[in-house]
Amino acid sequence: MKPSQEDKAALPVDEVYHTALETYFDVHRKSLENPEEFWNEHANIVEWYRKWDTVLDSSNPPFYRWFKNGRINLSYNCLDRNIKNHRRNKAAYIWIGEDGSEKIVTYHGLLKRVNSLASALKNLGIKKGDRIIIYLPMIIEAPVAMLAAARIGATFSFVFGGYGAGALSERINDSGAKLVITADGSYRGGKIVELKKVVDEALQSTSSVENTIVVKRTDSPVEMVEGRDMWYHELIRGGNVFVEPESMDSNDPLFILYTSGTTGKPKGVVHSNGGYAVWVANTLKWAFDPKEDDRWWCAADIGWVTGHSYIVFAPLLLGLTSILYEGSIVYPAPDRMWEIIDHYGINLLYTSPTAIRTLMKYGDAYTKNHDLSSLRVLGSVGEPINPSAWQWYYRNIGGGKCPIIDTYWQTETGGFVISPSAGLGLPPLKPGSGTFPMPGIDPVILDRNGKEVKPGEKGYFVIRKPWPGMFLTLHNDPERFRSTYFEKYNGGYYAGDYAIRDEDGYFWLLGRADEVLNVSGHRLGTIEIENALVSSSEIAEAAVFGRPDPVRGEVIVAFVVIKDGFSTDQEMGNRIKKRIRDSLGPIYVPQEIHFVRNLPKTRSGKIMRRVVKAVALNQLPGDISTLENSVSVDEVKDAIDTFSRETGTEGRKGAVPE
Ligand code: WTA
Repeated sequence: MKPSQEDKAALPVDEVYHTALETYFDVHRKSLENPEEFWNEHANIVEWYRKWDTVLDSSNPPFYRWFKNGRINLSYNCLDRNIKNHRRNKAAYIWIGEDGSEKIVTYHGLLKRVNSLASALKNLGIKKGDRIIIYLPMIIEAPVAMLAAARIGATFSFVFGGYGAGALSERINDSGAKLVITADGSYRGGKIVELKKVVDEALQSTSSVENTIVVKRTDSPVEMVEGRDMWYHELIRGGNVFVEPESMDSNDPLFILYTSGTTGKPKGVVHSNGGYAVWVANTLKWAFDPKEDDRWWCAADIGWVTGHSYIVFAPLLLGLTSILYEGSIVYPAPDRMWEIIDHYGINLLYTSPTAIRTLMKYGDAYTKNHDLSSLRVLGSVGEPINPSAWQWYYRNIGGGKCPIIDTYWQTETGGFVISPSAGLGLPPLKPGSGTFPMPGIDPVILDRNGKEVKPGEKGYFVIRKPWPGMFLTLHNDPERFRSTYFEKYNGGYYAGDYAIRDEDGYFWLLGRADEVLNVSGHRLGTIEIENALVSSSEIAEAAVFGRPDPVRGEVIVAFVVIKDGFSTDQEMGNRIKKRIRDSLGPIYVPQEIHFVRNLPKTRSGKIMRRVVKAVALNQLPGDISTLENSVSVDEVKDAIDTFSRETGTEGRKGAVPE
C-alpha cells in the first residue's frame, strides 16, 4: 500500500500556518544529540518535590527508567499548582451533558472534588500502590476519580464504558483491583447504558473487589449490595477536606491501561508518573501550541489513552480549559459537534478520522449553519486519515486556515510520536502523513530482517531510543513486555505498524502489521473475538478479520463453524452477536457473521485466518502451500457471494481496499 500521487501532493505552503521550520529541526536534533541536557530542561514543565539523580537509567534495558529518584505528584501538578496562580478560578472543564446540561468546574472546584474523593478512598482503606478500576462515562467524576487516585498514589485502571462484563472482570482480575468506581448508567445517543448492572455481573467472577462506589447519573434502578456498594454523593458529603498529595517516585505506576495484542489476553500497559507527565505536557505544547485563553476539545473517550493523556493530564498540567462532552457527536442531530464549537468558541479541536468521515457523510449543510471561525488548530488521531477526509476537515471545518495535526501514537507510547509541531515550526502538510517525529523520538523503518528500507518503501515502524513517555512494563508480565516489543529489532521498540518514509523524509503510518483490528479508532484483537466465539457451546471454530470500511476504517467479519446439531440461521447469528455484546462489549460485535462447514487450515490444524481474509476480500491469498483442505476456500467464497446477493452489497468485489 504505497501512497498515491494524490496522497503525496503537498499542500501549497500556506502563509497562515507555515512557521519557522528550522526551529523544529533544531529542537529535534538537540533532543537526540544531547538527551540529558534536553530533558533536564524540559522536565521542568512540571514541578518536582525532589529533582532526579539521573535523567535516564538504561542499566536494565528495555526497562528504561526516566528521571530516576525524582519525586512528584500529578494531582498536585494538575491542581494545587494551578490554584496558586491566576488559574485558580479558571475553568478546568466545561462539561456538556448529552441532554444539553452544562457544568463549569474551575481548577479550585476540581481540587475540592478531588480532595473529597481522595479522602473517601483513604477512609475505605485504599493505599499507595493499590489498584482501583474506574468504569465511568464522560462525566466530571471520571477525571476526578483519576486525579484522586493519582493524589493518594493508587494505580487506576480505567475501563472504557463500551466494554462488557467479561472484559471488565478480566481487567479486575488481572489488576487485582480492590475497588471499582462506576455509575448507575450513562447516556449515549439518547439511550441509557446500565453500567452498574455490568459491574454486578463482572463481580460474580472476581474476588479482589471489596467496595464499589456508584455515581448517580441516570437515576436508573440499581441494586446496592449492603456493605459493598456505596453512593458516591453520600460518601463525599462532609465539605472541605485536604488530602496531602503522596510523594511518588518518578517510576511508580500512575495507571494501567489494557489494550489488545496478538493473543487473547489483553496487555496491561503500565505508565509512570514522572516521565509520562513530562511527555504528555511537552507533546501537547509542541504539537498544538495551545494559548492560555484557548478552549481545547479532545473529543475522544476518556477511557482510551487519548482521553487519559489529552483530556486529563496534559491539558491540566498546562492549565488549559477543556471541553468534556458526555454523549454522541450525532445526537440529537449531526451538527452537535459544530454547535458546541460555535457556542463555546473552541480554538483547538482534536478528533478521529472515523468521526470526521461520519460527519462528512451528512454533507456540508450541517457545518454551514455554524460559525466555526474560532478554530485555529485541528487534530486527528487513532487511525490513518485518508486524503479526502483530510481535505474535508481542512476546508469545511478549518476554513482552509487551520493546520491539521495528524498525531500518530499508541497506548504504549503515552503521547504523540509522529506529528507536525505547530509550536515549533510546521512543515508544508501532506494529507495522510503525520510528517516528522516529536523531539526525543528516533524512528526508523525496517524490513523483516532489520535492514532499513529505502525511501518510499513500506516496512515496520521502530523507535530506536527510549523516550520519557514510554510505558514501564506490562502489568504482571515483564517477559511479554520484552519479547513483544523489544526482541525483534535489536532492542528497538517495535510498534506493530507499517510505515513509509517518503523522499522528503515525511512519515506515513499505514496501519497495523499484526493481528489487531482498528475499528473506528478502537484497537481490538482478532483472537480475543475468536476466543469469545469458540467459548460458546454451539461454535466449533472461528476466524475473524477486518474488512476495510469507508467510514470506520475496518469492520469486523467473522467466519464460524457451527457444531453438528445446531442450526445456522439468522437467529443463531443474533444469538452470537448478543453473546459478544454481553461479554466483550458492543464495540466487538461483528458486522458480518458467515457460517461455513470448514475453515482453511494448515496440515497441522492451524486455522489460516490470512487465507480466509484474502479469499473473502478477493485478494491474492499469498502462500497457500501449507493449506490442507482447498474445498474450504470455495466455501468461504460461496458464503461471501451469498451474503452479498442477500444484502445487496458488493461482496468480494466491493471489499477490495481503495
Ligand atoms: C493506530 C491510540 C495512523 C496505529 C492513540 C496504532 C494511527 C494504533 C494514528 C494505536 C495515526 C493511531 N495515523 N495510525 N495518526 N493514530 N493509529 O493504542 O495502528 O488505541 O498502532 O492508541 O492506532 O491505538 P491505541
